[in-house]
Amino acid sequence: MKKIAVLISGQGSNLGAIVRASVAQDWPGRVVAVVSNRADARGLQLAREHGIATAVLDHKAYADRAAFDAALAGTIDRFAPDLVVLAGFMRILTPGFVARYEGRMLNVHPSLLPAFSGLHTHRRAIEEGCKVHGATVHFVSAELDHGPIVAQAVVPVLAGDDEAALAARVLAAEHVLYPRAVRWFLEGALQLKDGRVTHRGHEPQGWLAEPAA
Ligand code: GAR
Repeated sequence: MKKIAVLISGQGSNLGAIVRASVAQDWPGRVVAVVSNRADARGLQLAREHGIATAVLDHKAYADRAAFDAALAGTIDRFAPDLVVLAGFMRILTPGFVARYEGRMLNVHPSLLPAFSGLHTHRRAIEEGCKVHGATVHFVSAELDHGPIVAQAVVPVLAGDDEAALAARVLAAEHVLYPRAVRWFLEGALQLKDGRVTHRGHEPQGWLAEPAA
């Protein structure tokens, strides 16, 4: 059974989607640890309810980014994960940390990368008059929000959408997208070559998200 460590900073709804899918679909892997930089992250409670080990490392307690990332790596490595999953982990990572988990660390970002890396993606998509928006799962590389793309889900931007409405639509799409991408990784279905990711079984890696029921 492969081991997944999930890093969170907030509510952990993607964490919940991954944990539920791993059990319901009987994946060849399970979430064995949830690590947060915030003690009040709601996702920690979700992890405890599922009997998953948790750890909190407050980034403010460390002198600089490098010291925090070194402690974070030490915590993660105690669980010897095959895959590190960033699920709403709102920290910029040092190149050394990224290199340590190269090819085995995924992130979900709430935009169709390479559009709208960084923050406030939904507001920016509305301001630009985009007609579609979405979410991306990618391998983490040293450049923020720029790693090789594993999968993308597209949602419409509807007239009258505000930031909250669009964010909710994207998040619902993430809850399908991210578990699927993680399962592919665990199954060994992903091939990373020349900065591009393909699915060995030719499953579609991009799709229009189903509207929420
Ligand atoms: C998600 O929308 C995720 O894409 C975003 O944070 C949210 C976390 O939600 N991540 C980023 O913005 C990373 N740059 P969750 O805690 O409910 O999973």
